Amino acid sequence: MRKFIDLHLHLDGSVPVATIKKLISEHHYPIPSDEKLRQELSVDSNCKSLDQFLEKFALPNKLMQTRHDIKTIVYDLLVELKEQGLVYAEIRFAPQLHTKKRLTQENVIKAAIEGLNQFLIDQKQENSNQPELHAGLILCLMRFANNQKENMETVELAKKFLNHGVVGLDLAGAEGPIPNIKYKQFFDRAQELGIPYTIHAGEAAGPDSIRQALEMGAKRIGHGIRCTEDKKLTQELIDRQIILECCATSNMNTKAFDQIDSYPIKKLLHKGMKVTLNSDDMTVSNTNLPREYKLLEEKTNLTSEEETTLYLNAVDAAFTSPDEKIRLR
Ligand code: ADE
Ligand code: ZN
Repeated sequence: MRKFIDLHLHLDGSVPVATIKKLISEHHYPIPSDEKLRQELSVDSNCKSLDQFLEKFALPNKLMQTRHDIKTIVYDLLVELKEQGLVYAEIRFAPQLHTKKRLTQENVIKAAIEGLNQFLIDQKQENSNQPELHAGLILCLMRFANNQKENMETVELAKKFLNHGVVGLDLAGAEGPIPNIKYKQFFDRAQELGIPYTIHAGEAAGPDSIRQALEMGAKRIGHGIRCTEDKKLTQELIDRQIILECCATSNMNTKAFDQIDSYPIKKLLHKGMKVTLNSDDMTVSNTNLPREYKLLEEKTNLTSEEETTLYLNAVDAAFTSPDEKIRLR
């Protein structure tokens, strides 16, 4: 079976539909038809922007407010990822989005770690010769206007749980009027605490947002695909061997990029850029990582040698130990 690594995968955008149905039923909410559920959870060709894309997170986020639901979602997602052939995944979520009922950010993180640990225990007991799936959690800070306290709490909690399930931090959410650089203080603190991080940039916002992420010390950029609008920046990313976490279908959905046939992953690889291929939001984009590879094979003639390079770039970029990197190689 082919091996895959996903470094950019949002928990709330990737909840398996069967799990959503199970949780709706457990909560005794009205069960929508399959068609209605699809419309509520996934974008279609009418999606015109990141803002519209992010509207699809309302239902999963409504469900992700109890320890049981978060643990269940992490567990079920990992089962699905293993079936797809993943050997390593970094799963990201924003603890502050899941505190609408009784949970604290710390409870949210503990629930996700419980789901991960339960999966690892059950996997050990399976009698299978398929390679194991290992995973780490990335905690997202959110690009909101008045959440400095919540964002700083997430940074401190990332330190508390670092190497106990959590592997890093991210900055996510709508690329609205507040530029990335306004969140620098949180990543300065992450640097002080020795927490690795990635930053979403160059998706809805252009090359400037990537420059800001670099100024904030990011070594990995979520998406970053719009660097192609700026030759000098592209060269700087290559020279500094910054990792791009590319997500092709998601970029088509949000209109960060509009032509899949000219999706530039191959071009960037051949220029020497450290690109990786990831899924972003499996349920919202109705995709998964094997499908993303297949899409680029069909639309851009991505070859198996190029796929191996993408995989090895992901091994190099993963927020994980040297021993785990040896296992993955
Ligand atoms: N959260 C989930 N998907 C996202 C994306 N593509 N960009 C920013 N934040 C997100
Ligand atoms: Zn993302």
